[in-house]
Amino acid sequence: MGALQRLADFGAAGYNPGNIRDGEQGLGIYDRYASIYDASGQISFSLQMLPYLDSVLERHSVTRGALLELACGTGTVALAMARKGWRVYGVDGSAEMLAQARRKQATSRSEDSQELDILWSQQDMRHLCLSEPVQLATCLYDSLNYMLASDDLQAVFRGVYRALEPGGLFVFDMNTPWALATFWDDSTYVTDTPGLTVILESRFDAYRQRTTVKVTCFERQGELYRKAIEEHIEQGYPREHIATLLTDVGFQIEGMYHCFTFEPPTASCPRILWAARKPGRARQAAAGQAAEHQAVSPE
Ligand SMILES: C[S@@+](CC[C@H](N)C(=O)[O-])C[C@H]1O[C@@H](n2cnc3c(N)ncnc32)[C@H](O)[C@@H]1O
Repeated sequence: MGALQRLADFGAAGYNPGNIRDGEQGLGIYDRYASIYDASGQISFSLQMLPYLDSVLERHSVTRGALLELACGTGTVALAMARKGWRVYGVDGSAEMLAQARRKQATSRSEDSQELDILWSQQDMRHLCLSEPVQLATCLYDSLNYMLASDDLQAVFRGVYRALEPGGLFVFDMNTPWALATFWDDSTYVTDTPGLTVILESRFDAYRQRTTVKVTCFERQGELYRKAIEEHIEQGYPREHIATLLTDVGFQIEGMYHCFTFEPPTASCPRILWAARKPGRARQAAAGQAAEHQAVSPE
């Protein structure tokens, strides 16, 4: 039996886009991809984001204390921020992405001299619920483009606003409609390493400003390959619309940058980094005064 035949047999039952309901995608969209997410190269975004996030926080000051890392995925940013002394809530919708994050924390426990203060919690970001106010919230790597309806995006903004203490900062990035139309229309991207092949095939719906990406993974497991297929949908929003939703909720927009720079975004900017502030005066986050570090069930 040839290798290709083995691949096909092993993956025959792989394709099940049933996690996508009309206008909505389920919380498990990353479950099949999770085990190879970092190895396929996706971790490089977080590694690039971390030093940039440091400089964003120098520009947009924030009281150090509790951090909500929303759509934390496999936890790279959450772990790094906890190492810097933040008390972190790592929230994601995918149980498998969170399992990877927990695994990484367990592995790093043997290397880290400090015990990291992280609480992982599986929640739909549209129904966010935390037990204490946070000083900083982040939502990175176009996770908010997974909100396919404007109401959903606003529900996230509202939840983050509630979760922040007065004076708290929300930092997030989103793919622009220009990026979806330019890089994610009829494109195929292949990552091929000895143990892993990932194929991303995209099509852009110009009418809805929405990209659908079919992710096909072949992960070597001994003599065989595990095949998994997922379908991800990202919605593009005009920046004016995002600004309107943020300000309607009560945020003050402090910064809107061509991501990884501090330049204003141009018409052909692929990704925008936003810094939005909840008005009010920040309390000094005093050690020992923080509420118990626990997430509660979403409503
Ligand atoms: C592109 S990944 C980014 C992960 C991580 N922020 C990073 O930088 O690697 C998008 C993440 O959004 C999460 N996600 C998508 N929809 C969600 C929802 N409704 N609620 C919570 N998490 C969601 C996925 O599970 C996935 O981990």
